[in-house]
Amino acid sequence: MVHELPNGNRLQLLAGDITKVPVDAIANAANSGLRGGGGVDGAIHRAGGPAIMSELDAIRARQGGCATGSAVATTAGSLPAKYVLHAVGPVYRDGKSGEPELLASSYRACLRLAEERALDSLSFPSISTGVYGYPVEDAAEIALATVLEHLRSHRHPRQVIFVLFGDEALHAYERSLRHLGAAHGPDAR
Ligand code: APR
Repeated sequence: MVHELPNGNRLQLLAGDITKVPVDAIANAANSGLRGGGGVDGAIHRAGGPAIMSELDAIRARQGGCATGSAVATTAGSLPAKYVLHAVGPVYRDGKSGEPELLASSYRACLRLAEERALDSLSFPSISTGVYGYPVEDAAEIALATVLEHLRSHRHPRQVIFVLFGDEALHAYERSLRHLGAAHGPDAR
């Protein structure tokens, strides 16, 4: 599904493996220790090679990690991208412990890093909806609303692609995008 905004910026939803989709920057669902892990983080480090962890080691030495709701950039090793943006989403508790704000903040941090670098394309996984337990329907609304808000009012990135692992996640994001598109009028289709 592709959603084009009045300014020509685009939001696309795909099912697949984020390490296989060429873009300028790939967002990763990392942890605040920046030490790698399973899920999409494991897949990104496996496909990108050890250069990514070497850069994270340097960042950790400099600033001690990455707070929940923020992100750091590294190069992308052998991935089909220039950068990996390591975002730290919240662990889900009850939805009333600041998780929605922290999840939106982790997306905004990546969008800001992409904007600062004047990047054209950025891919996202569904941050926090694996090991961190965020219900996918709720996370999709926050992820899409945050990205749409940025795309409406910024030149970079011009294209955001959500690469969702499996049809179930894809369909949840598609439902959410239809809902938000309808709610926001001008760029709805
Ligand atoms: N491409 C796209 N999406 C993927 C891929 C992949 N190759 N592999 C997994 N996913 C999906 C999962 O299905 C899930 O929907 O990414 C989403 C996020 O799940 P996690 O990777 O578990 O991330 P998160 O819930 O944010 O938890 C972060 O997990 O691996 C650790 O180091 C990471 O501690 C951190 C925690």
